[in-house]
Amino acid sequence: MLSVTTATPAARRSAHFRKDVLDGLRAENKYLSSKYFYDETGDKLFQQIMACPEYYPTRCEMEIMQHQSGRMAQFFAEYSPSFDLIELGPGDASKSWFLLRELQKENAAFTYYPIDISSQVIGWLEDKLPVTLPGIHVRGLNGEYMEKMHQVNTFSPNRKIVLFMGANIGNMNVTQATQFCRQLHDHLQPGDLLLIGFDLKKNPRTILDAYNDRQGITRAFNLNLLRRINDELTADFDPDQFEHYPVYDPGSGACKSYLISRIAQEVHIGDKTIFFRENEPIYMEISQKYSLEETELMAVQAGFEPIHTFFDSKKWFADVLWQRQA
Ligand code: AVJ
Repeated sequence: MLSVTTATPAARRSAHFRKDVLDGLRAENKYLSSKYFYDETGDKLFQQIMACPEYYPTRCEMEIMQHQSGRMAQFFAEYSPSFDLIELGPGDASKSWFLLRELQKENAAFTYYPIDISSQVIGWLEDKLPVTLPGIHVRGLNGEYMEKMHQVNTFSPNRKIVLFMGANIGNMNVTQATQFCRQLHDHLQPGDLLLIGFDLKKNPRTILDAYNDRQGITRAFNLNLLRRINDELTADFDPDQFEHYPVYDPGSGACKSYLISRIAQEVHIGDKTIFFRENEPIYMEISQKYSLEETELMAVQAGFEPIHTFFDSKKWFADVLWQRQA
């Protein structure tokens, strides 16, 4: 076995994956991390989720970006004529694209730093964005968010604007999300801006349906992680023996997905055996929903001041603009 320090990045990632999976499945309450959903098949399934009729967040945020990017760009340009624009987890940047275009129209002097764990995403953005937005300065960074934020700070002392869109913050619970924002605060200077996409509390059935689509795409998305574990960690999960079970608690705003073992069964992962009781759950994902007041409380706790809120026409989603306090 290669030691962790000399292994290739791919081998190191695979060792982490194995450790995280075994830790999660040996825990008293079994869990897997939703960050592992996004292999090649998972990426495709997520694209299908975003296009399915029940999954509203993407369409809501797209509406915000299509109609209010001009206003956002004004806020940014007023803050500083030149800045570094950092985007955490840009995906295909199809939403931030509108903002980038507006900033170009306003002749803002900025470099766009998309940060993503996927090197494919970064390579793709560096190739494609200069085609549709000629003259844009793009410098992609492949790696963990905070590590790369630190790196951008070593490149330039420029003012910073950070985008964290797509309700990705929902994949953390409220405590973790607040700590995450506090870490962002620590990587910024007083006055710097942060734009975060929050999915808002709304009719609970609307929310639950978004994670329980009739075509079964979200179900396949969750089960795909078992298939990925089979392929990458030589395991023998039978996905048919697990049931997709999403729940939404309108009080706390926590939307959670579980896979429930239909039967008592054993699963082998390499040379390790995991036992499941009949009806035992694996906690797969949280998609936390917020009231506007709850986002404002988080801003203050993390050391930011809320500056402006951009809503879609239904007020189902909010992109909030925060400014780092001294
Ligand atoms: C990418 C984290 C915003 O939680 O709504 C979609 C992922 N999971 N359907 C979300 C997801 C199931 C999504 N985020």
